[in-house]
Amino acid sequence: MPYVEPGHPSELIEATGALFTRAYDAAPRVVARAPGRVNLIGEHTDYNRGLVLPVALAHATYAAVAGREDGVVRITSGDDGEPWTGAIDTVGPGAVDGWATYVGGVLWALREDGFDLPGMDVLVHGTVPLGAGLSSSAALECSVALAVCGLLGLTVDDELRHRLVRACIRAETEVAGAPTGGMDQSISLLAQVDAALLIDFDQDSSRAVPLGLAAAGLTLLVTDTRVSHALVDGGYAARRADCEAAADALGVPSLRQATLAAVEELTDDRVRRRATHIVTEIERVRETVDALAVDDWAGVGRLFAASHVSMRDDFEISCPELDLTVATAVEAGAIGARMTGGGFGGSAISLVPTERVDAVVHAIDVAFVAAGFRAPQHLLAEPSGAAELLA
Ligand code: GLA
Repeated sequence: MPYVEPGHPSELIEATGALFTRAYDAAPRVVARAPGRVNLIGEHTDYNRGLVLPVALAHATYAAVAGREDGVVRITSGDDGEPWTGAIDTVGPGAVDGWATYVGGVLWALREDGFDLPGMDVLVHGTVPLGAGLSSSAALECSVALAVCGLLGLTVDDELRHRLVRACIRAETEVAGAPTGGMDQSISLLAQVDAALLIDFDQDSSRAVPLGLAAAGLTLLVTDTRVSHALVDGGYAARRADCEAAADALGVPSLRQATLAAVEELTDDRVRRRATHIVTEIERVRETVDALAVDDWAGVGRLFAASHVSMRDDFEISCPELDLTVATAVEAGAIGARMTGGGFGGSAISLVPTERVDAVVHAIDVAFVAAGFRAPQHLLAEPSGAAELLA
């Protein structure tokens, strides 16, 4: 079966270095990698001070950098024409265009946090599918942030990782203009191998939740519907505004403090349904963690199903391609499936007995052809480690 492959780290380091040398006529000083992610459950809960349970993918972005003494910043991926070129002291909001905004945003946020940055050449390369709801933008931000720390000779400890999470969130929300909630940067910089990360955005804390998928004979299949998903479009911000309106109406600081009974009294139908999703979804994250602790995979599958229905009907962020993926995966043998990430397209995640994965993929492909949809792409999510400095 053709899956989108994560690639071998050693080959990707070499390829990234070679692209850097071709673009800038000199070798990079540092290379760092940062993973994309797929969320098991807990959608749109991060900006409501709720709980999320993502895993890092083996698919990652690699950032190569070398310092410069003239204060100039150049940014390229090696295959997009001339590098974006500017100055380190002007990389703030509004200064950079296109995807390089995320890189400029990180440099700006690090400077805002007090890091003294030289000019630099930056090249990024990688295997996180773009626009698939798998956090290619967070992988980009976090790989660059870590590479810059390597350039500065800093020790990458837990405290620095948390600082980088905050800087990358600022890059995304204040410079790129995507009002996202912080899950993606947190998992990319804090993930642990073979585990999901339970992040509590009220307590600002996280802990690893071991998964044991292989021992259970299960695989996490991710299907990218290839329906465009862009967090800077209005749908995401509109959901966030509805959640804030619900919290205001209930007189609580965030929906984390709201009860379902109180939410059910809200008079605005749309706002009530949005808040219902958030409050029930936070509870489903708790229940998923409990089910995982006793290897109750059937229970996890039921929670996936309930989460999807809630996002489809109450939060209204699904689409026909995601609904078809979820229904087909379950019919073909998945234990559970749901859309994952911000929604409005992007990817679905299915929990599948390993021997059924090829059959599930085939069934989804056939269903997409029958429905007249563009062919989807699939990848296998191997719960992987956090961003790291490589060379
Ligand atoms: C996007 C955002 C995250 C989160 C998810 C939905 O990935 O970047 O902060 O809100 O959507 O759970």
